[in-house]
Amino acid sequence: MLDQLNAIEKDALAGLNAAADSAALEVWRIQHLGRNSALMTILGDLGKLSKEERPAIGKRGNEVKKALEDALAAKAEALRRAEMERALTAGAVDVTLPGRPIARGRLHPATQGLRKMYAVFAEMGFQVYRSREVETDDYNFTYLNIPPHHPARDMWDTFHTLTPGVILRTHTSPGQIRAMREYCPEPIRVILPGMCYRYEQPDARHEIQFYQIEGLAVGKHITFSDLKGTLSDFARRLFGQKVRTRFYADHFPFTEPSAGMDIECFLCGGRGCRVCSGTGWLEILGGGMVHPAVLRNGGYDPRVYSGFAFGMGPQRITMLMHRIEDIRHFLANDLRFLEQF
Ligand code: FA5
Repeated sequence: MLDQLNAIEKDALAGLNAAADSAALEVWRIQHLGRNSALMTILGDLGKLSKEERPAIGKRGNEVKKALEDALAAKAEALRRAEMERALTAGAVDVTLPGRPIARGRLHPATQGLRKMYAVFAEMGFQVYRSREVETDDYNFTYLNIPPHHPARDMWDTFHTLTPGVILRTHTSPGQIRAMREYCPEPIRVILPGMCYRYEQPDARHEIQFYQIEGLAVGKHITFSDLKGTLSDFARRLFGQKVRTRFYADHFPFTEPSAGMDIECFLCGGRGCRVCSGTGWLEILGGGMVHPAVLRNGGYDPRVYSGFAFGMGPQRITMLMHRIEDIRHFLANDLRFLEQF
């Protein structure tokens, strides 16, 4: 039986060398150290041996068992290391490869344009006043001297909500009333930027959703010259000292007198081109002296106070600065467009 134990040990150790992974190792363990293995059967049957045979066989049997268990543990450890080594080499990073470029986010061109204009107005002493996008009919029209059923309401194609009297603002001008009611009787010098909404047919120059920047100054000695000076200076700071501007009579119910301002087309230098429709001039804003009725609705006495207001489309100005030919690019979310800025 001692010979049988020696053979079991030799055979088992030879088999262990051949086990290539942990699954094969488990098969080996069951075969050579499992309950039904030859070794365990011999050890389990020791009691059936004679008293003389038992000590030697028992001793040798336990030696073989210990040898196999030690060999199993050593092999398991060796396999574990080898498997870890393999995993590490397979997932290794080749630090000599060139890195992949990370696409950098950037500000939307409309936001870039807006920020340039905010900066110019900030230099000129204007603060930003934020007003709401969902407005009442009263603020958007009535307090701006456009009573219900007045034909001037047709100038602004309006999005109505399901709540009567509540609309999406069609321009930033209702913020004038909110600013005046908040600051009265203090003097005011603010810009009111934000989104406006109009139920319009979109085309190259019209969107249903677009930005405006409103300007408002109220005080005791404000004149039309202040408006002209402010807007001419704004144009020079934004487009360069040499840019020429011109004013012409216009009409808005909430300003009196009202004016529009053109800048000289900087594409053709005033000679006339496709962008300025051959006129040499580009319209960038409307404005005027705040109407006495509007001042009164804001809480200011028009016999003591006066003010000027203006409203511009910053996206149209950004289009001019970058020669963008269609306003719809701003909301189309096309990366080929956005990545150019
Ligand atoms: C107004 O909205 C007046 N509230 C401006 C104003 C303010 C006048 C204060 C006097 C005193 P108007 O409808 O012209 O005016 O719009 C002003 C600017 O907004 C336009 O010059 C244009 O640049 C821009 N704009 C108007 N409609 C659209 C549109 N559908 N898409 C893009 N920009 C627009």
